[in-house]
Amino acid sequence: MRNSIKFLLGSEPRELSGIDPTLTVLDYLQQIERRTGTKEGCCEGDCGACTIVVGTPDGDRLQYRAVNACIMLAASLDGCQLLTVEELAGADGKLHPVQQAMVAAHGSQCGFCTPGFVMSLFALYQETDTAPEVEDVNDALAGNLCRCTGYGPIITAARTMHDLADGPDKFEQGIKTTLEALRSLADEETIHIQGPDGRVLYAPASLDALADLLAEHPDATLVAGATDVGLWITKALKKLDTVIWLGRIAALRGVRETDAGLEIGAMTTYSDAAAAIAALYPDFGEVIRRIGSVPLRNVGTIGGNIANGSPIGDTLPPLIAAGATLILRRGGTRRSLKLENFFIGYGKQDLKAGEFVESVILPRPAPDTRLYCYKISKRFDQDISAVLGAFSLKITDGKVEAARIAYGGMAATPKRASATEAALVGKAWTRETVEQAVESLRKDFTPLDDMRASAQYRMQVAGNLLLKTWLESQSDGADGLETRIMPTRETANA
Ligand SMILES: Cc1cc2nc3c(=O)[nH]c(=O)nc-3n(C[C@H](O)[C@H](O)[C@H](O)COP(=O)(O)OP(=O)(O)OC[C@H]3O[C@@H](n4cnc5c(N)ncnc54)[C@H](O)[C@@H]3O)c2cc1C
Ligand code: FES
Ligand code: FES
Repeated sequence: MRNSIKFLLGSEPRELSGIDPTLTVLDYLQQIERRTGTKEGCCEGDCGACTIVVGTPDGDRLQYRAVNACIMLAASLDGCQLLTVEELAGADGKLHPVQQAMVAAHGSQCGFCTPGFVMSLFALYQETDTAPEVEDVNDALAGNLCRCTGYGPIITAARTMHDLADGPDKFEQGIKTTLEALRSLADEETIHIQGPDGRVLYAPASLDALADLLAEHPDATLVAGATDVGLWITKALKKLDTVIWLGRIAALRGVRETDAGLEIGAMTTYSDAAAAIAALYPDFGEVIRRIGSVPLRNVGTIGGNIANGSPIGDTLPPLIAAGATLILRRGGTRRSLKLENFFIGYGKQDLKAGEFVESVILPRPAPDTRLYCYKISKRFDQDISAVLGAFSLKITDGKVEAARIAYGGMAATPKRASATEAALVGKAWTRETVEQAVESLRKDFTPLDDMRASAQYRMQVAGNLLLKTWLESQSDGADGLETRIMPTRETANA
């Protein structure tokens, strides 16, 4: 066992032992390193003031991704390069092109949000060689809030940052050294950190080591991207006694093509799963683009969304409607179950002590079957769903041959609309059939009233989404998605 985490802060090696298992990267930076460039705003992943960039080896390059330091466990830096705003300027004090562009475009007033914007832009800069499209800039900055400058100048900075480059930046120049330093940190040992008050953190490097640890500590809290767990720490002020971080297990990451479909490892982040999912199910890809923000999607995982079991978890209705199967493991034993059967009640999942989610299998669409998904929230970006509807329909010769419909936000769990499906199957795919089927939603659901939406609103929206599916299916054809009434950031926020 190794009793420390090792990473690079910029180009400097760091080794931390004896830390609080729930120490966040933000607290580490401010309280241990006394680096105060990274700001604390909301402390819940919503404002972007704490945005940092994490570099991980990816073949012969480094993948730089923006993440929120406030809800990220310091332990999850193991094996990574951590970059904060203090790192960007050269040794001679010359600003990085991203910073120069912000100055030139007057992209900062009070400056509180500025380090976060700069780091989000820095990650975008590393991904692009020329001026990024406005839509890509909007996506990259959707998790950063500015209350005084306004976004116009910041978008201008994003569009012009590459013009200010005079050759490769210092990160690109130093890539070989950084990669060598990071590779020298890698090993297969389980990390075991004994923190204060007897609290402990483990970070196994293999599935078998995880299964053994969980058998020994069935009450441990598993941590994937910590975009849910992080808030238990920063907002609910929970002291977690035993934490097992899953991020070192390569076998839990990535999307594999199998005969059954896509096998998505539980630790696969939204950012890493998006392209493969969108290739099979374009609407599901759009749902993923609407989850949180880029920094959130860079760490939040599909397995975490499933295991958390929220009634408004956005991947759950599309996965259920597409007929996904969950693979669970406990000790040396695996079992599989249909995803819809995993959710037993509010906050209650069919997960036994010592069991974990290993992967989810997303089948390929059956012939002539199409998955339509709609997320309804108050804002286009960075907002939790009020209702999310997913409709998988096979229409043959104008008749509904098969229907799998699932909603989020309509019950205590994500749930199939069985009565509504029955009202559609075997019938002509007409507006009249759909309007009758909408009535069946009342048999399927008794939605809740809460601050996000009233029960009446949710019921109305759920019906409207089924009708919208029918309307949009009328324009499906050679042009596919292009002809559909997809919301854009502009229309959704209008
Ligand atoms: C600002 C913000 C915006 C958000 N926006 C959205 C949104 O738009 N849509 C949405 O659906 N969600 C949203 N979320 C919620 C969250 O991002 C998702 O639920 C995410 O998928 C959780 O994944 P994670 O990897 O961060 O899980 P974690 O927080 O690490 O874990 C979540 C739960 O799953 C358990 N767990 C994790 N992995 C496993 C495993 N392999 N086996 C068993 N148990 C496991 C953990 O113990 C914990 O109970 C948002 C959160 C924040 C902070
Ligand atoms: S402080 Fe607001 S996202 Fe981290
Ligand atoms: S410059 Fe003041 S919050 Fe953005």
